[in-house]
Amino acid sequence: MSSSSNFSFEDQTVGMDGINPIVGLEISDEKKSIQIANAHIDLIEKIGEGGMGEVWHGRLKTGVVKNVAVKFSGSRLDSREGLRREANLAAKLDHHAITQISMYGAGKEEDAIVMDYVNGADSGKLMERFAKCNLHTDGILIPERFVAFIGWVCCEGLDYAHTKDLEDHEGDIVHGIIHRDISPSNILIDNHGSTKISDFGIGILSSESAREMGKMTGKLPYFAPEMIDSSVEIDEKADIYSLGASMYTLATSRNPISESTDSGNLGLMAGNAAMIHRTGFPPLEEIIDVEPEFARIVSKAMSLDPGERYSADEMQDALSAYMYSSGFGPTRKALGLYFQILNGMIGDQPIGHLMERAKKKMPYFIENRKIRLKKKKYRDL
Ligand SMILES: Nc1ncnc2c1ncn2[C@@H]1O[C@H](COP(=O)(O)OP(=O)(O)OP(=O)(O)O)[C@@H](O)[C@H]1O
Ligand SMILES: [Mg+2]
Repeated sequence: MSSSSNFSFEDQTVGMDGINPIVGLEISDEKKSIQIANAHIDLIEKIGEGGMGEVWHGRLKTGVVKNVAVKFSGSRLDSREGLRREANLAAKLDHHAITQISMYGAGKEEDAIVMDYVNGADSGKLMERFAKCNLHTDGILIPERFVAFIGWVCCEGLDYAHTKDLEDHEGDIVHGIIHRDISPSNILIDNHGSTKISDFGIGILSSESAREMGKMTGKLPYFAPEMIDSSVEIDEKADIYSLGASMYTLATSRNPISESTDSGNLGLMAGNAAMIHRTGFPPLEEIIDVEPEFARIVSKAMSLDPGERYSADEMQDALSAYMYSSGFGPTRKALGLYFQILNGMIGDQPIGHLMERAKKKMPYFIENRKIRLKKKKYRDL
């Protein structure tokens, strides 16, 4: 392992941030492994790259071997500073619907956080793959009951985070934490249907880095209108808008605000987005055959006035009432099975036995699995 960091491992505490010690990160040559204090992590493969830096699948070796995800900060000083502050706060969130942060290390050129590894995909990637699935010429959309279920789990995580008292890095109590960057790429779903929100409090740091680098893509459609106006202070209702907008996209494979708005020029994008917010986006009913109650919940979450939106708790209740009104509705197991079937279809694997199980468990989704977009103009992805 090379010595790319500027501290000695005899004393792995490299400073203090308020009440917390800052622990050193060492990155090996060619990024094959990292070391944070005494914890050694082999880096297996790069999973993706967001606005901030790379995300890797790693194996943490501390007596037992555990899968983890490692997110690097990139080299920008303000991102690194923000990451340390936010990671400290976000690490205190301990909930099944939120990816838990377990370590933070400060390196010489970049920093890293270690979090739960979600063995699946983010909901944006899942949607894109299924929408392009060539076994069905029109692609496959995620049935709205499953989108509701994904949103329902996210509401539970948001309610927890929005209402929990947390101690910040200086020992002060902060009431609740706002995510500020809920989007399909920050909603992770594993192969068993568990849904987790990632990047609590730190996603926006990536967006800010990306903005400055002119690499801002794909996030603007999920920004609440008040996030575009920098003079307005945002609260937790911004997350509710972003969750509604994410559900809109997952159900239709279209952004509420069109991609062309996302030009990379922030001033232009924000201006266009503000105009679309004023004039409104196509209602869900116009794009797909959709149950009216689902459309109503999404559009209330996406109210332009934050005061008209749900709280996370209220939105979860509304989604429960909608999904389980017939006494039977989606479950985590059903969602996992659904994605396994679609993965099997795409990968040409034998799926007969999965289909048999699915028919017994979820008759409604088998019938609905191919949902046609209503109008031809909406079919171009
Ligand atoms: N804990 C995790 N487990 C598994 N995969 C993850 C995890 N966190 C992130 N990923 C994957 O890595 C990809 C890159 O994540 P990253 O957060 O850097 O970018 P992003 O979510 O697309 O945008 P942003 O930088 O705004 O968050 C994600 O799309 C996701 O698929
Ligand atoms: Mg992310």
